[in-house]
Parts: sequence; structure tokens; C-alpha cells
Amino acid sequence: MGLAIAEAALDRGGAVTIVAADVAVILPDDRARVIRVETTAELRDALLDVLFGGSHADGGARFDALVMAAAVADFTPARPATRKLARGEGLTLELQPTPDLLAEVARICRGLDAAGATTLPSVEPAPILVGFAAETGSLERAAAKLRAKGVDLLVANDVAEPGSGFGTDTNRVVILDAGGGRDELPLLSKREVADRLLDRVAAALDERDAAGQTALMQEAQR
Ligand code: CTP
Repeated sequence: MGLAIAEAALDRGGAVTIVAADVAVILPDDRARVIRVETTAELRDALLDVLFGGSHADGGARFDALVMAAAVADFTPARPATRKLARGEGLTLELQPTPDLLAEVARICRGLDAAGATTLPSVEPAPILVGFAAETGSLERAAAKLRAKGVDLLVANDVAEPGSGFGTDTNRVVILDAGGGRDELPLLSKREVADRLLDRVAAALDERDAAGQTALMQEAQR
């Protein structure tokens, strides 16, 4: 799904950076900047570097949109072994939660520090943030996820449904927006889903830029 979105954005003339883990598809590294990561920690470093050039924003936007299609690992081993573990009686693996990267990016874009206080410059113009939510069964949690993460759009799909989600060329998704809108798309190829999603992102960017122009003109008239 991430590759389909990257290709759709490239075909629209976008400058695309793909941050990818161990994916089973060939990435268009002749057309896009490709950064390889293995762990959630490496993904976090790559995101902060590409999006903000560091751990917080300096006010200027370096990107128009972030689409997080990755199924990021929610847990990581608390004490990774540095040497081979010999077979023994049994093994209990202690896991600790990983940080929610999308929520962190949304917070930084709004100029909030880790405690949630407005102490840093927000990113202007505000980038459009898109999350994915792979659910099984009901998509009820998706709307709550959109709010919790602070994203503009959330693409929800039921990965247990045939023809949807992992290992297929098709996907059936619902696009939720921060205004409470809910767009239920039919079963489509991943490329068609990507194009419908980018139509929404482009419309949100147009709206943002039009609002920015109006604000500038009002400022000039004052
Ligand atoms: N995500 C993220 N950082 C994580 C986990 C997920 O940025 N540590 C992003 C995913 O790339 C996706 C969105 O958050 O865009 C939703 O991921 P999902 O796994 O569905 O939700 P979680 O936040 O992990 O919540 P839960 O596991 O409770 O469903």
C-alpha cells in the first residue's frame, strides 16, 4: 500500500521520500529517495531527520504530507541479546511498548513539547498527516485513533477481510477525516486507493494554501 501511494505521488510530480523496512516489493529508488530502517527506533530517527532535520521543528515546513502506511511494531524487546541464546528450558521475552511515532510527529507539527505544552514553534504551513489503521472486525476504534493521534486523515481497513490489507493487490478502506467525515470506498486496486487518498490530500493542501493566502491578504490590508 505504501509503494502504491509513493508511485501515485511520484506520478503526480511529487518529491517523494520512502522510509521502508523489510518490504516484499521493489522500491522505485531511481525516482524517490529511499531510506531503509529495521526497527521502530530507526524509523523514528529517519522520520525526525527527514521531516524536521532534528528532534523538533524550527518553524519551517520541509514537507507537505506524511502518509504512515507502515504497520509499525508496537513492542520491542526490553533487553535485546547481544549474543546467541543457547536452547534451554524455555524463554520468557520481556517486551516494552514503542513510542507512537505518528502522534509524536503530529505533536511536533503543532509546536507542542513532550509534556503537551505549546513551547515550540509550530510547523507552517501545516503539513497534512495521514495514518493507517489496520483493524480486525469493527472499524469503530479508528475514529478514536484519528483523534488520539491528531492526524488529518485516517485510512482504516479490516485486514481480516478477503482482498483487503496484507499480501493482496486490492484493498477496501474507509477514509475518516478530522471533521468527522467518513468515505467508504469499494474494493479497489491499491493504486486506485492511493489515488483516491492523494485526491483527498491534494484537496486538503489546496484548502490550507487558500486559507494561507487569505490570511496574507488580510495582513497586507491592515
Ligand atoms: N504507528 C506509529 N507508531 C507506532 C505504531 C503505529 O506511528 N508505534 C502508526 C502506523 O504507521 C499507522 C497508525 O499509527 O499509521 C496506526 O497504527 P495501528 O497499529 O493501527 O495503531 P496503534 O497506534 O498501534 O494502536 P493499537 O495497536 O492499539 O491498535
